[in-house]
Amino acid sequence: MAFFNWDDRYSVGVKNIDSQHQTLFAIVNELHTAMLQGKAKNIAEPLLIKLIQYTQEHFSAEEKLLASVQYPQLPGHHLLHTGLTQQVEDFLVRFQSGERALNINLLNFLQDWLTKHILSEDKKYGPWLNQHGIL
Ligand SMILES: [Fe+2]
Ligand SMILES: [Fe+2]
Repeated sequence: MAFFNWDDRYSVGVKNIDSQHQTLFAIVNELHTAMLQGKAKNIAEPLLIKLIQYTQEHFSAEEKLLASVQYPQLPGHHLLHTGLTQQVEDFLVRFQSGERALNINLLNFLQDWLTKHILSEDKKYGPWLNQHGIL
């Protein structure tokens, strides 16, 4: 069983966005697998970099979509994305300057970082997108 399982609770009601979020979950699961296999030291850094890159792509795709339907909360949502990107970049810097050990606390941080935003903020735009014909 994966560390970080997707279920309908995380759905924002828009297929394309859900699948991008699922990809983010999958990268965190890859980190977890690496940790369990004791390979974390070698592959954690490229995986963290992959997570940051994919996160940035996702945030910009999400913001583009929200802009296309004049989502009223977009400016605030953009600021949240900036803050989250900063957090995960700081996380990488700490990882690179520390002992480079990957442990469950770090994975819990990533899981928290991702789920809180999806559940509390991304879910808010779902109905607006649906009303504008984006499903
Ligand atoms: Fe978002
Ligand atoms: Fe998102």
